[in-house]
Amino acid sequence: MYHTFTRVFTERQTTALVAEADARRPEATPVAVPQARLHGDHAIPASRFRRAGTGPALDAVVTTVVKRVVRDDLGLSFGLGLIPVRTAYNYYDPGDHLGVHLDAPECRYTVLVPLSPQIEPLEVYPALAGAGARELHHRIITGTLGPPVRVPAPYGGLVVVQGSVMPHARPPATHPCRVATVCFG
Ligand SMILES: [Fe+2]
Repeated sequence: MYHTFTRVFTERQTTALVAEADARRPEATPVAVPQARLHGDHAIPASRFRRAGTGPALDAVVTTVVKRVVRDDLGLSFGLGLIPVRTAYNYYDPGDHLGVHLDAPECRYTVLVPLSPQIEPLEVYPALAGAGARELHHRIITGTLGPPVRVPAPYGGLVVVQGSVMPHARPPATHPCRVATVCFG
């Protein structure tokens, strides 16, 4: 499952998230993996971007707006069981990317909040949903993933994907961009 929602946040909320993302950027740590590799039963994607921790502006919308969208608008009835387990800001300079991967098993729903107007769509691979890490890695290194579905990532909206089941990737950025990521378990 993957879904795009437009106009989720008010202009004021988006402005606050952008300001917080920019404030966190100096303390972001680089993530750099030159080649996809298999580590035990975990497929590590090729990647290059920077990541920083969450802040009060993001935490505030996660526990209200984002949670409501995931729970109510998607028709999910997890109630109080749906909790954010990982939250971060990711920064992509031109050429930065995050290769095809699955999120950690506890990430039942991964929410991406684009915080830049010019951002590439998220690429998902529905035909490979449920594939294990080993099969996914094999397909990556043999170039047999097949074509992705490109899911729009609108500024002011969000994208929800079943992160631990649906292989997904962020293709090389064409413009500098920021994305908030929230993983619900
Ligand atoms: Fe992911």
